[in-house]
Amino acid sequence: MPDMKVERAKTREPLRPGQAPRNSVGSNLDTALRADCSDRGDSATTYRSSKSEAIGGLGKCTVATEAMALLQAQHLSVEFRVQDGVIRAVDDVALHVDHNEVVGMVGETGCGKTITVHAIMRLIGHPGRVTSGKVVFKGRDLMQLSEAEMREVRGREIAMIFQKPMSSMNPVFTLGEQFSDVICLHQRISRREALRAAEKALQAVALPDTKAMLGRYPHELSGGQQQRAMIAMALSCGSQLLIADEPTTALDVSVQLQILKLIRSIMKETRMSTLIISHDMSVIGSVCDRIYVMYASRVVEHGPAKEIIECPRHPYVEGLIRSIPRFESCDSRLEHIRGEVPNPLELPTGCRFHPRCGHASPNCAQQMPALVEVGMEHFAACWQATGERGQV
Ligand SMILES: Nc1ncnc2c1ncn2[C@@H]1O[C@H](COP(=O)(O)OP(=O)(O)OP(=O)(O)O)[C@@H](O)[C@H]1O
Ligand code: SF4
Ligand SMILES: [Mg+2]
Repeated sequence: MPDMKVERAKTREPLRPGQAPRNSVGSNLDTALRADCSDRGDSATTYRSSKSEAIGGLGKCTVATEAMALLQAQHLSVEFRVQDGVIRAVDDVALHVDHNEVVGMVGETGCGKTITVHAIMRLIGHPGRVTSGKVVFKGRDLMQLSEAEMREVRGREIAMIFQKPMSSMNPVFTLGEQFSDVICLHQRISRREALRAAEKALQAVALPDTKAMLGRYPHELSGGQQQRAMIAMALSCGSQLLIADEPTTALDVSVQLQILKLIRSIMKETRMSTLIISHDMSVIGSVCDRIYVMYASRVVEHGPAKEIIECPRHPYVEGLIRSIPRFESCDSRLEHIRGEVPNPLELPTGCRFHPRCGHASPNCAQQMPALVEVGMEHFAACWQATGERGQV
C-alpha cells in the first residue's frame, strides 16, 4: 500500500527551469539546514600511509594567489543567538579557492567548518545570521545576489555535498526522480537523458545495480550508499566548484579511499575546484593542495598542504598532525591535544587556544594573534610562530 504522504508529494508538478529541485544538491536548502551540524563520523586516520601512496602526487605544493581565486570569502562572521547567549560560530574568516585547486578545511568538531561553507552558500537560517563578510565567486558578490540568482548558483555553479546525506535527500522521492530533477534543471536535457546520466554517475561512485538503485527511496540505501549517491548527484551537475562537507564520513576505510580518489580524479578531468571539509587531518593532508585549519571559529593556520603537514607553525595544528596514527611507528601510544574544545558561549580571551597550549605566555591570554605570513603563502595566528623559535 503506497504511503499517502509519498503519493501526495508526488502529485506536484514537474520542475520549471529555475525552480528548486527536490533535494539539497540542487537547492532544497531547508532540508539541509535542518541537519545537525554537530554529527561526526568515524575517523579515517588509520590508513594514512596506504592512502597517501594510493593517491600519489597529491598534497603537492600548489600555491594559489588570491587575485586569481575562483571563490574568495573575506571577513566572514556568523552568529547564533541562543537562549544562553550568542555563539560566534564563524569569526572573521577569510579563505579562497583557486581554479583547478583542491582546498581542505580541517578542525575539531564545532570549530565552525560547516557554518563557514553554509554562509558561503547563503544557507544560514534562524537563529543564525551572517554579521559581516563578502563572498566573491567568479567576480560576483554572492551576498548581493537575489534568492533566485543564488538558486542558480547553487547546484549549477557550486555543488555541495552535505555532511548528513540522509537529511539532504528528499525521503519521498526515488533517487531517479531526485537525480533527474537536478540534472534537468542544470543541464536542460530530457528526463530520459538525465536518467542515463544519473545511471552513469552512480556507476562512477561504484554503486551496484544502478538501474534498480534509481528506483529506490533514500531510506532503502545504506549510509555509505547514500553518501556515494550524494557525491554522484553533486558531480553530475557539471559545477565549477564542489564543496564537500565530510564526504567520506559514513564510509568504511576502503571506500573512503575510493571516494577520495574519485573526487580527485573527477576534479582533474573536469578541472573542477573542490573545497573539502573534514575533522581528519590525514584525509585533508592526502588529497588537498592547500589547507585551512580552524580552531574555535577562526582560521589559525593556512598554506600549502605539504608545508603545513611537514612544518606546522601553530601549536594546535602541530597537535593535530602529531595525533595522526602512523603505522611506521613502533610506539603504539597515540598523542593527543590536551584539554577540551572550548565552550562556544565562553570562548577564552586572547588566543583561544591558550588554555590548551604548551607554549602559552601571559600575553597569549590577553591578546588575540592575527594571521601573519610565516612562509611562502603560509600564514599562522600565533604569537610565537614568527618569534625566535620559528617553528613552535
Ligand atoms: N542552528 C544552530 N543553533 C545554534 N548554534 C549552532 C547552530 N548550528 C551550529 N551552531 C554552532 O556553531 C558552531 C559551529 O558549528 P559547525 O557545525 O560549523 O561545526 P563543525 O566544525 O562543522 O563541526 P563538526 O566537525 O562536528 O561538523 C558550533 O558551536 C555549533 O554548536
Ligand atoms: S599565541 Fe600563544 S597560546 Fe596561542 S598558540 Fe601561540 S603560543 Fe599558544
Ligand atoms: Mg560540520
